Amino acid sequence: MAEERSYSPGLEGVIAAETRISFLDTEQEEIVVRGYNLLELIRRVQYVDVVGLLLDERLPDAGRREELEQEMVNAQVPEIVYEILWRLPAQMHAMDRLRTAVSTLAGFDPEANSADPDSERRRAPRIIGQIAQIVANLHRIAQGDRPQHFESNRGFAENFLRTIVAREVTPAEIRAFEQSLIAYSEHELPNSTFAARVVASTLSDAYGALTAAVASLKGPLHGGANEAVIYLLLEARTADGLEALIRQKLARKERIMGFGHRVYMRRMDPRAQLLKETLHELIAAKGTGSELAAMCQRGEDVMRTEKGLYPNLDYYAAPVYYLLGIPIELYTPIFFAARSAGLLAHIIEQHRENRLYRPRVLYTGPRGLHV
Ligand code: CMC
Repeated sequence: MAEERSYSPGLEGVIAAETRISFLDTEQEEIVVRGYNLLELIRRVQYVDVVGLLLDERLPDAGRREELEQEMVNAQVPEIVYEILWRLPAQMHAMDRLRTAVSTLAGFDPEANSADPDSERRRAPRIIGQIAQIVANLHRIAQGDRPQHFESNRGFAENFLRTIVAREVTPAEIRAFEQSLIAYSEHELPNSTFAARVVASTLSDAYGALTAAVASLKGPLHGGANEAVIYLLLEARTADGLEALIRQKLARKERIMGFGHRVYMRRMDPRAQLLKETLHELIAAKGTGSELAAMCQRGEDVMRTEKGLYPNLDYYAAPVYYLLGIPIELYTPIFFAARSAGLLAHIIEQHRENRLYRPRVLYTGPRGLHV
């Protein structure tokens, strides 16, 4: 009976880890990351600073910052990883190709099987850089093009974006992209982070834990939502079209991607509010895209009135990526690349204070059968 009372479907409300990394404080409406408000980090610093904060537990000084950025930008992806990606079927989902690539990276790291947190912390910037380079090249490889390497005289976010879109990018575009990377960098214990910690808790290695996280993040209820949002907007074409489409889907009891969140179910995800500002800034800088923002606003209004549901980060990241000209299949892989920093921080923390995850079940099957 005691076990029955403690069962929470989907582990809703269950505290499943003790952490010093981040916390969604719904009372103060603050996303705390290593003591800082994530929204302030998005507004004030760069992604590389957040990587330092997550890994070192403090914001990097100029020297450490430079060291981290160089490690991330100069990280070498073994040629064989690209060769494997070349040989995979082009129609294979980008997250499945990414999952294969992340798993393959282990083969080229002499310390791959070490679950030692100090070794993992040392290797983390390189792994984050490798993942970003793989993601940046996923689409061009599927198109039959050669991979492009990051350039050490450019910043991480600029390298990442210009490799994806294969053109020079403006400071406003880099800033919008960088803000999305920080927004995606860390968010307490979503399904993918939990999956990574569960794998790490067996003292399995970081690549295995990251590979599990890619599989988790692919799902449309999680990271796959940003891709689903843009397909919804493209199908709808106009604000009126979106309102009609949402009403049809709701009448059929379908979910509208980009709305709702386990923790912020009846309020707006603070990251969505910030990315909405980013979207407006990007539109002002580019002088195009205001129809897209008007559509998003209409969708937001309809969902609030009809369902009392609010946008999550994916709802506003999708139009930002669309205006940046990013291929749609890369939206969720970019989420993973950005989150790899938070994931590695969690894997390191799990290995530092490990206890094996092994919960119990509420058994509802038969008993007493005999052969
Ligand atoms: N559209 C329509 N109805 C919804 C939605 C939605 N997006 N989200 C929740 N609901 C309804 C749901 O149908 C249910 O209604 P009822 O009680 O009448 O059956 C109620 O709200 C509670 O839903 P739930 O699925 O039990 O709640 P949950 O906490 O398990 O779900 C969620 C959280 C994110 C899976 C859900 O809100 C959802 O499916 N959203 C759409 C997918 C999405 O945008 N995912 C990205 C999440 S945020 C970024 C990330 O983590 O990747």
